Amino acid sequence: MGKLAGQAYIDYWRTRMARGPEEASFDGRDADRQGEAIWEFIEPCIKRLRPDTILDFGCGYGRMMRRLRALWPAAELHGVDLCQEALSSIQQDWRDSEQPKLSTSIPDRLSVDLIFDCMALQHITDEITFENAVMDFHRLNLGGVLVLFENISQPRAEHVRDMNAGSYMDLWPGLTWTNTGILRLKGQAHALMIGVNRG
Ligand SMILES: C[S@@+](CC[C@H](N)C(=O)[O-])C[C@H]1O[C@@H](n2cnc3c(N)ncnc32)[C@H](O)[C@@H]1O
Repeated sequence: MGKLAGQAYIDYWRTRMARGPEEASFDGRDADRQGEAIWEFIEPCIKRLRPDTILDFGCGYGRMMRRLRALWPAAELHGVDLCQEALSSIQQDWRDSEQPKLSTSIPDRLSVDLIFDCMALQHITDEITFENAVMDFHRLNLGGVLVLFENISQPRAEHVRDMNAGSYMDLWPGLTWTNTGILRLKGQAHALMIGVNRG
């Protein structure tokens, strides 16, 4: 199966997400309900962390970032997404005191205590962009944590990478992978992978 690459990959995500928050969901429906199920699965594994700085990579309309904000109200929160409409919607809807720093690419020199990626990396089918994202995910402070939640059902779609949990974790051999688990959403398996930067 050929994968989206180059401008076609960027156009796909900008156009799809501009249609609205439901597009973040697995099948274009129930984004809130799926988000709740995903958060209930992830939250017990991360709630004891104390990050001062957080990056939600591929934050979309912020359904997971809202929960990150509620769990860590004082943290410096960064949201990055290709889709400007999604970012503008967050800017408009969130209270000033809760506002994350938003951008369409990871700010230069940003380093963080927590990188949170809910179903974003799985969609980076453009190889150069993928390699850059893998490099960017090295921007973890000592003791920092990378949280990946990705589809591993190998759905063989043009907008999803064909990877399993092992091949994701192998991308960052310097991290200590401390926890994994599988959540099934509408018949598709999603892996939770948590890597710690122990230096
Ligand atoms: C399935 S949605 C998930 C959104 C969000 N994480 C959530 O769970 O609601 C995937 C998101 O990844 C974003 N995305 C894809 N490639 C990206 C990239 N290279 N940089 C930033 N965001 C990207 C898309 O625009 C889209 O909003």
